[in-house]
Parts: sequence; structure tokens; C-alpha cells
Amino acid sequence: MNKSVAGCGDGIRSVTAGRLDPCYTELITDTAERTGMAMLKGMVALVTGASSGIGEAVAEALAREGATVVAAARRLDRLEALSARTEGAVAPAQLDVTDRGGFQRLVDEIVERYGRLDVLVNNAGVMLLSYMEKLHVDEWDRMIDVNLKGVLYGIAAVLPHMKERRSGHIVNVASVAGHRVFPAGAVYCGTKFAVRALSEGLRQELTPYRIRVTVISPGIVRTELADHITDEDVRREMAARTLVPLQAGDIAEAVVYAVSRPPHVDVNEIVVRPTEQRT
Ligand SMILES: NC(=O)c1ccc[n+]([C@@H]2O[C@H](COP(=O)([O-])OP(=O)(O)OC[C@H]3O[C@@H](n4cnc5c(N)ncnc54)[C@H](OP(=O)(O)O)[C@@H]3O)[C@@H](O)[C@H]2O)c1
Repeated sequence: MNKSVAGCGDGIRSVTAGRLDPCYTELITDTAERTGMAMLKGMVALVTGASSGIGEAVAEALAREGATVVAAARRLDRLEALSARTEGAVAPAQLDVTDRGGFQRLVDEIVERYGRLDVLVNNAGVMLLSYMEKLHVDEWDRMIDVNLKGVLYGIAAVLPHMKERRSGHIVNVASVAGHRVFPAGAVYCGTKFAVRALSEGLRQELTPYRIRVTVISPGIVRTELADHITDEDVRREMAARTLVPLQAGDIAEAVVYAVSRPPHVDVNEIVVRPTEQRT
């Protein structure tokens, strides 16, 4: 059934004195009626860090639900393989999130090509755990550049477009490391605490524009993330872990849940741990 309402276009217009306008109620009804494969049909999403792990699973899951997905990361070969596997439902885009200009250019290209960008999933991240006394200062820099500045550059790139449309959803992947600090995790935890803090500030500021902000905080997920750790002590400690981790798809389901809620619902944060993970 065609649910379009005259004058509503593809976005939400306004709420006056606590009353929902017709476009708003129509969209809620429409979303509630969506089921199955086409739950996210018509939505355009950009997922960073989509060449492996959680980002790859998120890109696939959003595409499976009908969204048009642009998958970004540095390893283009991995993104092209993902695109082929999804029969073109996911479009590859090479991006280093620490390149502010490059991030803006990619967002502009997406808006130019698809006419809109509904969802940004800021997922790219590195976890270079090390004990601070070892002074892996270059790795501290990298975590701040990718995990924190990369997220900020993504927000800066999409905000003008989302504000203009008075619609959009920014999903930031933080971590349970953004809830508690552990030895060898001081800087990584610092970046993830910061992502949670900036997401909450952003959410509060964006309520007049009806732009949603969601933080996803995973516990331990089986991905490539820990492979890049260079501190041998940490590598040994991690190898000794025995608990059953989450799969990347478990986190992708949480993202799909958040972005598929009706427009008046903003899922602020989802924390997902393996059942056996204590803290
Ligand atoms: N796995 C866990 O246990 C866990 C737990 C909590 C939170 N997280 C968070 O989940 C997110 C995804 O991690 P993951 O576990 O899926 O690890 P992963 O498999 O290593 O994926 C990390 C992704 O980030 C991308 N990336 C790294 N540096 C980048 C840069 N400069 N520019 C663009 N992309 C970059 C990588 O792609 P390229 O190398 O191709 O650029 C890759 O696609 C991270 O933010 C991580 O902190 C993970």
C-alpha cells in the first residue's frame, strides 16, 4: 500500500506544542507495518570499518533488511568481496576515517548519488592495548585518531545534511571499555568513554532536529580487533581467555534493532556482553 501523505516528502516536518503532525504519525504507522525483508527499504546507510568484523556484519545485515549500504574502510579488496557476496547490495568505498576531507567528500558523494543519507554507523576502530609504562605513544595516537577523531569527523560530515532534512540516525560503536577501565586499556578505554560522552552530548543537542543518536557497547566479540596488539604481555593474557565470545552478527542485530525503530523512538544505548563475561 502506498503510504505517502501530501506534503510529507520523505522526512518528518515538525511537532508543534507536543502534537504529532500528520507526516509523523503516518511514518510511525508505516514503520509499524513493515515486516520481513524490506524493513529498511529506502534507507541509505554508511558503515565505517566495514572490511571486517562488526562493521562487515552490520553492512550485510542492513542490506539484508533492504537498506542501500555504502561500506567504507581502507582495505578496498575486502569491501569489493563483500559487495560481490551481497550481489551489489553493499557498495564499497575506500576511506581512512582519520582523513577529515576524505570523509566529507564520501558523504557528499553519497548524498549526490542517492539523494540522502539516513544512517551513519561510526564503527571503525583499533584496540592497541598496552601497559602505559611501555610508552607505546604512537599507538595511543592511533587510537585517538581512529576511535575518537574518526567518529567526530563522521559526525561533522553528516550533520549539515541531516539537520537540513530534520532526520537521520548516527550510531556510534563504543564498547564496555567505555563503561569501565582495565589495566592495559587506559587509552583505549579513554577513547570509548569519550565516544559515549560525545554521543550523549550530541543526542541532547540534536533533539530539536529529530536526529537520533545510538551508542552500541559490545563486550568481547570474535573479530580481528585483538590481532593488532603488539604488547606481548597483553597478547599472552588475551590468549589465556576461555569464555565464549559474541559473534559480529550478534552486534549487527543490535544495530538493526536500533535503526528500525519508528522515528519517535531513539534507542540511546545498547550494551551486549557474552553471557560468561563478568565486567
Ligand atoms: N571485537 C570486540 O571485542 C569489540 C568490543 C567492543 C567494541 N568493539 C569496537 O567495534 C568496532 C569494530 O571492531 P571489530 O571488533 O569489528 O574489529 P576489526 O575486525 O579489526 O574491524 C575494525 C575495522 O575498522 C577499520 N579501520 C581501522 N582503522 C581504520 C581507519 N583509519 N579508517 C577506516 N577504517 C579503519 C578496519 O578496516 P581497514 O583496516 O580495512 O581500514 C576494520 O574494518 C571498533 O570500534 C571496536 O573498538 C569491538
